[in-house]
Amino acid sequence: MIKLYLAPMEELTGYVFRNTLAKHFGCVDKYFTPFISPDNRIMKTRSSREITPSNNEGLTVVPQLLTNDFELFNEGAGLIADFGYKEININFGCPSNTVAAKYKGSGILRSPELMERLLDGIFNGPGSVLNDHSDLHISVKTRVGFNDTSDFEKVTEILNRFPFSEIIVHPRLKKDLYNGSARMEMFDMACDRLKGNIVYNGDIYTAEDFINLTEKYGGKITAVMIGRGAVINPGIFRQIRTGKVTAKAELYDFLTDLFESYRNDCGAGNALAKMKEVWSYTTCLIEDEKTRRQVFKEIIKAKHESEYKDAILSAKDKLPMHIPPEM
Ligand SMILES: Cc1cc2nc3c(=O)[nH]c(=O)nc-3n(C[C@H](O)[C@H](O)[C@H](O)COP(=O)(O)O)c2cc1C
Repeated sequence: MIKLYLAPMEELTGYVFRNTLAKHFGCVDKYFTPFISPDNRIMKTRSSREITPSNNEGLTVVPQLLTNDFELFNEGAGLIADFGYKEININFGCPSNTVAAKYKGSGILRSPELMERLLDGIFNGPGSVLNDHSDLHISVKTRVGFNDTSDFEKVTEILNRFPFSEIIVHPRLKKDLYNGSARMEMFDMACDRLKGNIVYNGDIYTAEDFINLTEKYGGKITAVMIGRGAVINPGIFRQIRTGKVTAKAELYDFLTDLFESYRNDCGAGNALAKMKEVWSYTTCLIEDEKTRRQVFKEIIKAKHESEYKDAILSAKDKLPMHIPPEM
């Protein structure tokens, strides 16, 4: 059976979100943490809360590291593995200019030499994290190039030299950011060229999208990772697995619980900011554009919890009874 993964999304799919999703809907095989920079503050900052085992009880969580330095990777991965995590993911996809300019995330796709040095230090170097944690799995999440699709041929050659447990492919270039549609011809190329387990990621918003994808790629992929589609409809994994559609009341209960959980975790002000980010996705469910904009404006305007609660109560009326609406 094709597995289902929740995508790493900075500020969105952290431990509060994933625990709430698991409690209300479940059916996720692996939850990836938003990227963590493995500098020497790794265990002291907000990132450490992502990997604190008590924040991830009962869930299969894969911490994701963002670096182009194998010493930092090995050190950070060692600390994470000491907590008992079985897999660590490397980020070769982040399109942010500040990240990519430093040849990290998608930035490494334009430097095959640096990529090779990093991976060699991780898998084969004298300080490899695998020396002390031989059962640790290393996976990678990659885009299909920086500015040009021709970058990908060399990238696949390098990736094939290392024993990744899984290669997650988001078929967009760095320059695409999240715009336009996924470049499926590049995903075809990934399937043809890459050895090992391939995971598809990109633009899966409904169970129907999942079915269409797996009809074509079923024999070639081991899992599908979903990001934005799961923020819009956190019940998408359950629907794919069981056929049960998310009811509006369920979505609303989820969002209410998510707000309470954020409030307990980081205070009402921060919880409000986090929920505004989530609602920027949820409101996509409102078909009429004018209504959608109005509803979102009311939510964004809310300065206090009571205003927020009023705004989302009126938003509830505008959401479709079932998600997605047409099913
Ligand atoms: C707001 C936001 C934050 C993201 N943060 C991360 C991240 O921390 N690590 C990562 O590998 N990808 C990150 N991504 C990319 C997603 O994991 C995913 O690859 C992308 O959204 C495409 O999948 P989707 O169409 O299912 O959303 C982020 C995307 C968005 C929109």
